[in-house]
Amino acid sequence: MLELSGVRYQPATAAGPVLDDVSLRLEAGRLGLVAGPSGGGKTTLLEVIGGLAEPERGTIRWNGEVLSGRQRRWLCGLVFQFPERHFLGLTVGQELRLGHRRLEAGRVEQVLARVGLGQQSLRQQPERLSGGQQRRLALAVQLLRDPRVLLLDEPTAGLDWAVRSEVVGLLGDLAKERAVLVVTHEPELFAALEPLSWRLEGGRLNPMDEKALRTMPAARGQG
Ligand SMILES: Nc1ncnc2c1ncn2[C@@H]1O[C@H](COP(=O)(O)OP(=O)(O)OP(=O)(O)O)[C@@H](O)[C@H]1O
Ligand SMILES: [Mg+2]
Repeated sequence: MLELSGVRYQPATAAGPVLDDVSLRLEAGRLGLVAGPSGGGKTTLLEVIGGLAEPERGTIRWNGEVLSGRQRRWLCGLVFQFPERHFLGLTVGQELRLGHRRLEAGRVEQVLARVGLGQQSLRQQPERLSGGQQRRLALAVQLLRDPRVLLLDEPTAGLDWAVRSEVVGLLGDLAKERAVLVVTHEPELFAALEPLSWRLEGGRLNPMDEKALRTMPAARGQG
């Protein structure tokens, strides 16, 4: 169980808090969804949970234990918006092995199969993959570390319709084994997965019911 309570975060350069008294609970095996207007604090929320920023107030726990930033970086796999822009490897194989001194035999293949890239050549250049395949590769990179919590910033942004629903299906699958928190401007795409949903606006996080999830005009077409 991932549990935030009373989290407040104000970067030195901001006039006010970007996250203000944010609390949420998300258990493993569940998909969580955060929607809301551009500038509401969604990306910042993922950065704070993922240990890239430290809240000045409040706690972030996993299974009851308060975690430091370092522990959260270990616990969480964070997939940024447009992850394909940050690929560093010259090949799919290299991209997956970056940062791993050694990997168990077969681990790379196992993770690729998990994201539906089982047939993919490890020698392919990441830029040559389709948009959906690139998103899958970015997920595979995180899954190699087997994080208990997956954090995704706008995982469906910039994909065409069919590919979006593929990615949504994959995230639903991955959420069966871990806690998955998705930030999105398109919450209605995820409605069939019956996610636990919140709206983040002006740094305040509030639960959103299913009806609001399916009809969220305020969240569309921004950002
Ligand atoms: N390091 C920082 N210094 C100053 N202001 C910041 C910093 N980080 C975030 N902010 C401000 O916090 C607010 C929330 O930003 P954030 O990127 O989290 O929004 P978002 O909900 O992800 O927006 P979008 O939907 O457009 O991606 C913005 O007003 C942003 O300018
Ligand atoms: Mg954002």
